Amino acid sequence: PANGQARTPPMGWSSWNKFAEAIDDKTVREIADALVRSGLRDAGYVYVNIDDGWQGERGPDGVLHPNAKFPDMKALADYVHARGLKLGIYSSPGPKSCAGYAGSYGHVEQDARTWAEWGIDYLKYDLCSGEGFYHTADTVQAVYQQMGAALNATGRPIVYSLCEYGRFDVGAWGRDVGGNLWRTTGDIEDSYASMAAIGFDKNGVPRHTGPGGWNDPDMLEVGNGGMTTEEYRTHISLWAMMAAPLLMGNDARSMTQETLALLGNAEVIAIDQDPLGRQGLPWRKQNGTEIWTRPLADGSVAVGLFNRTDKPVAMIADWPALGLGDHPSVRDLWAHRSVVSGAVHTVPAHGVVLLRATR
Ligand code: GLA
Repeated sequence: PANGQARTPPMGWSSWNKFAEAIDDKTVREIADALVRSGLRDAGYVYVNIDDGWQGERGPDGVLHPNAKFPDMKALADYVHARGLKLGIYSSPGPKSCAGYAGSYGHVEQDARTWAEWGIDYLKYDLCSGEGFYHTADTVQAVYQQMGAALNATGRPIVYSLCEYGRFDVGAWGRDVGGNLWRTTGDIEDSYASMAAIGFDKNGVPRHTGPGGWNDPDMLEVGNGGMTTEEYRTHISLWAMMAAPLLMGNDARSMTQETLALLGNAEVIAIDQDPLGRQGLPWRKQNGTEIWTRPLADGSVAVGLFNRTDKPVAMIADWPALGLGDHPSVRDLWAHRSVVSGAVHTVPAHGVVLLRATR
């Protein structure tokens, strides 16, 4: 897209999964501080995204104001920027947002200008109430195009996130309307069943993903409590294999060491952020196990050994069949050590062993 943003999948935090409408200025500032303190900003998580629930009323001039929970958006943006982070916001093309707040209907260019004046760096544009108006491929594309053009016209680089749940083959035209990412599914929930249904099977069309425009299987639930550590490890490993945006959805102010280790693993983040930008794919599925591969810019290959069953399973990577020769050098990205190429890996129930192999 013309805005030149998101050469690798966007990384950051979003308020929705944990806080929903219970989000305010103070919490956003505390999250920004927590990203810095925890080291996650330096690991790449730079967008602090306010989702639905910030919107107030329009003034007589049509300008949209935040509600009482966000007294001064410009000051909030300054605070976030001063910490080396970026600020994101949310709206809908219809008259109402998904949670019933004011949408941008009839005020598209005006809202884009308002956000640019505040210093906003990212917009998630969520179809919701517009469904009554926008229910065909043409009309949906047109409203996304309109906001994409309005954002570009502000002259401020603003990452543009399309949220219409993967309908109308969005990956085929998301870039053309200025989108940097587009949701491929309905909403994720904090359960293994929901995460696995999306992560293993609803990844969008891989060829549509690449520098500047990404399939978005929704935000992370890591740290929210509904899955085991192994299941969360699978969650982030799958998202990394898919070159998915990594938007934390937890309360970053009170992370356990375990959560921090899952989100902050630099070797796993490097897979997600690999500059080649190719989306990984299942290479072999067998008896509830899946081996995924993703080619990387330096010629190495990320290989995920996933176990979807309820019992531990012994898995091996068939390197010659994977095109990596008899004895590639292999790194285990969660154990943080080299492993012998012929190793048999015991993969826990619902778990994963994530490898990076170089021929
Ligand atoms: C939709 C989106 C969610 C969230 C809510 C907010 O459900 O898919 O990610 O933005 O709206 O109301």
